[in-house]
Amino acid sequence: MAILKITDLHAKVDDKIILKGVNLIIKGGETHAIMGPNGTGKSTLASVIMGHPRYHVTQGQITLDGQDVLEMSVDARARAGLFLAMQSPSEVPGVTNSDFVKTAMQSRLEKDENLSLFKFIRAFDHAVTELQMQPDLPHRYLNDGFSGGEKKRNEILQMKMLKPTIAILDEIDSGLDVDALKIVGENVSKMKSNALGLLLITHYQRILDYIPADHVHVMMQGRIVKSGTTDLMKRIDAEGYDWLKTELNIEDERVNGEDDASRIMLGTCATKEALK
Ligand SMILES: Nc1ncnc2c1ncn2[C@@H]1O[C@H](COP(=O)(O)OP(=O)(O)OP(=O)(O)O)[C@@H](O)[C@H]1O
Ligand SMILES: [Mg+2]
Repeated sequence: MAILKITDLHAKVDDKIILKGVNLIIKGGETHAIMGPNGTGKSTLASVIMGHPRYHVTQGQITLDGQDVLEMSVDARARAGLFLAMQSPSEVPGVTNSDFVKTAMQSRLEKDENLSLFKFIRAFDHAVTELQMQPDLPHRYLNDGFSGGEKKRNEILQMKMLKPTIAILDEIDSGLDVDALKIVGENVSKMKSNALGLLLITHYQRILDYIPADHVHVMMQGRIVKSGTTDLMKRIDAEGYDWLKTELNIEDERVNGEDDASRIMLGTCATKEALK
């Protein structure tokens, strides 16, 4: 059973500190949902776990089954079983979907092992059908010209093929129509097993109708400020975040809220100086 352990994680981009002490443990078989207002560090957490080169960890640890994830290259993290369905998947003209997934799968095998082309094509076609995607998809370039919803389905297609042990799905529900949400939700739900730990980043409770979560966390100011069950998410869905901000005495939930506040102060003073 995979265990992803995040301890006191601090990370920055350029000189801006975004994550300010994230603690989270995800075990195989568990589904965790992270929600939180815009700009509170959710996607940054996903990028840091996966090893995006722009983000620098300044403090804390991430381990997968006891192995130091921060020491691993991005591809080593993927081979170790980590997977990220991105909030905004990139378009890669020139690389077909099937070549992309095939290469990723081949790179997980031992050097002298070859991916069976027959098995690959069968599994790929099966996944395309299950996700109710267009049959010409394998021949199209990766996400190139895809609609928002098609890109999201394509992330789940990759997940189905790569069979990760820890999967982070960043707003997989955004931009999906009701039917697509059902298809994506059911496909992810079908993959649930003790061998898979899931982290769903979402703004809305509706995705949990298809993928029930065991734990719900709220992120503000670059850290998890509250954890609970789906009741927590239901309350936020109904009432928003104000009650929680009051309860936690948080004025500005954003990562760089304090910087913004100081900029406004500076601007006001400068204006006063100019008027003198
Ligand atoms: N590469 C970057 N360069 C500059 N600022 C960044 C970068 N990545 C993140 N940030 C900033 O860090 C903060 C947190 O961003 P992040 O994308 O993690 O938020 P989020 O919680 O995922 O928000 P949303 O719900 O809108 O997706 C934002 O203020 C964002 O502008
Ligand atoms: Mg985000």
